[in-house]
Amino acid sequence: MIDCHCHLLPGIDDGPKTLEESLPMARILEGFGFVEVHCTPHCIHGLYENTPAIVGERLAELQQALVREGIRLRLKPGMEYYLDSHFPASLERPQLLGDSRLLLVEAPTWAEAGLVLENLRKVVARGYVPLLAHPERWGLLAPPGQGGARHLLSRLLGRGRAGASGELLDELQRMGCLFQGNLGSFAGHYGKDVEKRAWAFLRAGLYSCLGSDSHPRHGLEEMIDTGLRRLHERSEQATELLSAARILS
Ligand SMILES: [Fe+2]
Repeated sequence: MIDCHCHLLPGIDDGPKTLEESLPMARILEGFGFVEVHCTPHCIHGLYENTPAIVGERLAELQQALVREGIRLRLKPGMEYYLDSHFPASLERPQLLGDSRLLLVEAPTWAEAGLVLENLRKVVARGYVPLLAHPERWGLLAPPGQGGARHLLSRLLGRGRAGASGELLDELQRMGCLFQGNLGSFAGHYGKDVEKRAWAFLRAGLYSCLGSDSHPRHGLEEMIDTGLRRLHERSEQATELLSAARILS
C-alpha cells in the first residue's frame, strides 16, 4: 500500500515535533502494510514556510532513522500546498509528489471557489496535475443542507444538478484535477457529513488514491484501522486505490 498524504516529517508543520515522535507513527503505518509513504508537510505562507530543500533534508534524516530502527518504509517527498493568494509563488519550484507530475493541494476553509480555481489553473498551465487533498472535507464541495451526499452523487452520475458545488466539481474534473481521499473520512473521523460525502465520492469513482493524512494524534491507529477495514468491506476499488495504481505506477 502507498500512503499519498502523510505528515510524518518531524518539526516542520503540525506533524510530529521530533524524530522520536515520527518513529511510532512510522511503525503504525508499517504495521498496517504500507510500504511507501509520501511525506507531505503543509506549505502555508506565514505559518509553515516549507521548501523542497527542507523537505529533502528532513526526509533523508528520517529515512536513515527508519533504516536504523528496522522500519521498512520507503519515504517519498511531497508537500501539501495551501491554495491562498500566496500560493502562485510556490509554483516557481514546487515539490511534486515523489517522481510524479502531481501537486498535492488543499483549499483553505474560507476560500471562495474563484481563488481556488484561479490557483489550480496556474498549476495546470505549468504542466502539473493538481491532486486535491481530501475533497470530502472541502466546504466548497458541500451542498447546503446536511452533507448533500445524495445530491452530489446524482450530479456526478448526471442525474440532476446539485447547484454551485456540483458545478465546481465538474469544473475541477474538466481541468484534469485528481482527488485523494482520507482514510479517516471513511472512519467517520471528521464527522458524519464528511463521511457521507467520502462514500458518495468513492461510489462515483472520483478518487484516484487515498492517504492517511497522519498527524501524531491519539487514536491514529484506530482511525487507520477502521478506515481500511470499512474500505475493504464496502468497496472493490479499495486495493487499487490503496496502491495508487492509476496515478503513480
Ligand atoms: Fe494533510
